[in-house]
Order: sequence, then C-alpha cells, then structure tokens
Amino acid sequence: MLSDKNIILGICGSIAAYKSALLIRLLVKAGANVQVVMTPDATSFITPLTLSTLSKRPVLVDYFIPETGEWNNHVELGLWADALIIAPASANTLAKMANGQSDNLLTAVYLSAKCPVYFAPAMDLDMWKHPATQENVQKLQSYGNILISPGKGELASGLYGEGRMAEPEEIISFITSEIKKKLPLADQKILVTAGPTYEAIDPVRFIGNHSSGKMGFAIAEQFAQMGADVTLIAGPTAQITNHQSINRIDVTSAEEMLQACLQYFKSSKACIMCAAVADYTPANVSAQKIKKQDNDLNIELKKTTDILRSLGEQKRNGQILVGFALETNDEEQNATEKLKKKNLDFIVLNSLNDKGAGFKTDTNKITIIDHNLQKTTFELKDKNEVAQDICNKVAELINK
Ligand code: C5P
Repeated sequence: MLSDKNIILGICGSIAAYKSALLIRLLVKAGANVQVVMTPDATSFITPLTLSTLSKRPVLVDYFIPETGEWNNHVELGLWADALIIAPASANTLAKMANGQSDNLLTAVYLSAKCPVYFAPAMDLDMWKHPATQENVQKLQSYGNILISPGKGELASGLYGEGRMAEPEEIISFITSEIKKKLPLADQKILVTAGPTYEAIDPVRFIGNHSSGKMGFAIAEQFAQMGADVTLIAGPTAQITNHQSINRIDVTSAEEMLQACLQYFKSSKACIMCAAVADYTPANVSAQKIKKQDNDLNIELKKTTDILRSLGEQKRNGQILVGFALETNDEEQNATEKLKKKNLDFIVLNSLNDKGAGFKTDTNKITIIDHNLQKTTFELKDKNEVAQDICNKVAELINK
C-alpha cells in the first residue's frame, strides 16, 4: 500500500520524537520514499543525522540553506508528497496548523500540501485535554486532516493518562487501512486462478502444459493494488507474490483446483479463471513408476470437470465471472461460444497466432468480449498493463 509512495514525515518538539526513527524504518521497509521535515525544536530531541541515515535523504529543518544560498521550496515539497504524516504533532504545531500560521518549514509545507494529512498528537494529558487543544484538533479534522488518536499510558511527565503518541506500528497500519479504504476495490473479495495443472500418470510423470502463471499473478497483484482481498489459487509455477492482500493457495491437479475454487467462489464478488486447467486426466494413476516396455503404451484419459462452467452454473446475481480463451483458429467464434456456454460476464481472448501473446512471454495481446458481444481489442502490452485493463473492466462492472 505504501510502496513507491512519497511521504513527508513532519516531526515536532516532543519526547515522542524518539519513536520517529522506528516509524521511518517501517515506512522505508514498506517501500515508501520518506522525506523528513523537522521543526527547529524537534532537533533537540533526536538528531537529524540519525533520521537522514534512516530515511536516506537529508533532513530539512530551515527554509534557507546558508551554505548554498538556496531555499527549501515548501510548495514543491507539498506537491511532491502523496501523504504528510505529522508524528509527533505537538500542541504548539497543532495550534499553528489550525490557525494557518507558518513560521517554520513544516507548517509552511502543511499549508502547501494537497495530499492527505495525518497527525499523531503527543503531549501531556492536561495539554491534550485543554479546550484550546481540543478545539484545534476539531478544527483540523473539519479541514479534512486525519487524526491518529493518542493512546493512554505513562507520560514523560510521570503522569498517567491520554496523550501518548500512537506506536509506529499502529500509525503504519492506520494509514495503510485509510489508503486501502479509498481504493476502487476496497474490501472486495476476488478469486483468481493461475498457472497450469499437473495430472499425475504415476509418482514420477504427469501431463501438464506450458502456462507460466505470469498473467494470473499479474492480475492478482493488480487487484491487490486496487484494494481487493485476493485469493490466488495457483497451479505449479515458479511465480512469487509478496503482497499482503493476496492469499495464495497452491494446488497441483485440476481436481484440487476445482475443490479450492468451490470453497472460495461463494464468498467472492468476482472470479477470474486465468489458469490453464487440464481438460483430461489419466483415468488410473499408477501407484508405482510405470516400467518401460517393448510395446507402445496407451494411457486412458478421462475428462476433468470444467471448473469455470460449474462456477457459471452456480453464479449468483451480482457475481462477476471472467474466463480466458487461448485459441489457435476461429478465435472470436470459439471465444464467444465459451462466453455463452460458461455464463461469463466477459471473456479474455488471446491467440497463439499473435506474436508476443500467450505462454511464457512477458507480453500479451488480448481482445475482451463481453456478454453483450461488445468487443474491445488492445495493443500488444506488458502483462502487467494487460492485467490493468482486465482489472479495470472488472472494477467497472463491480462499481456500476
Ligand atoms: O474451454 P476452454 O478450456 O478453452 O476454456 C478456457 C477457460 O475455461 C479458462 O478460463 C480456463 O481457466 C477455464 N477452464 C476451467 N476448467 C477446465 C478447463 C478450462 O475452468 N477444466
């Protein structure tokens, strides 16, 4: 959620500034670019050197840089940021922010920022309870700034009560869930299948196919970035995923994939069947390795269940079902028949006749055919961009 986000961390003069070091570590670990801006008083509590080392950027305190005669452009900083987090936010800085006062770089950046602003107050309990502070907090919230409430506990003064800055881990999870809430597929449950299936012949051999799983993993990743909770049912594949909103379930055979899909489909808003599921599986699996013989060997195959078709039969109103059609001939006609037979909302057609499309490549070229038989053909693109096109179409159907 925070990966590649530009975050300004504003630090005020408070003993809680020691927690900023850990907060920066967590933000950097989550993939964010962190620019620290400190009020002059904050530098008495923790050194800029510690924070610039952790954030891998010079810490900014003053408007003017006497050594170079340059200035730190607060307007540019305000526009650069995807989020401004003021933690710890002191009573003094809150008062300045609430009243539009900008006598230091941090308050000037605050006034210039167009991004969401989060503030995590830290102060003594009586300062926090004071009507002036409470009025300032309410005023800031009425401007759209987001309060990360202080917790109760032992305070630096030795008193016990409300006023402790939220812990860095709490700040990160609060901001992550706030960002997630605003995403187009927030909290939607989406089921994605990916990769091939392997159908065992004996303990050593199997029938498989060339699917790499790249397309399905790119789709799962894209849905997760759009805020969805993704269940990814993956056949045997070397692909990896680290997104915390993706619940990966590894399966081997078509039957295992069917059982996993049946388990998760009911609670899913949408299902994208991207896996290259085997259509046939050995009728009998030999318990021992089949020995080489002088004669030819015939393996009897039986049909697997068409997973997509059986999901199509139990699809409820409002559920969205998407299939893939990888064709070599009569592409559109075959895809349209599958769309109807499997009760799909749309089908993603790719042809092995298109250079750069299909298995193992990093690119794909698709045509989307929807249930009204409307066709949209896309250019040859990177599979991540193709995933965006497919996921945007699903989001459009969910949010219409
Ligand atoms: O009919 P065909 O196998 O070409 O259809 C492809 C679509 O059906 C894909 O979305 C694939 O994931 C799905 N499928 C399935 N179960 C099968 C075979 C294919 O869900 N046994």
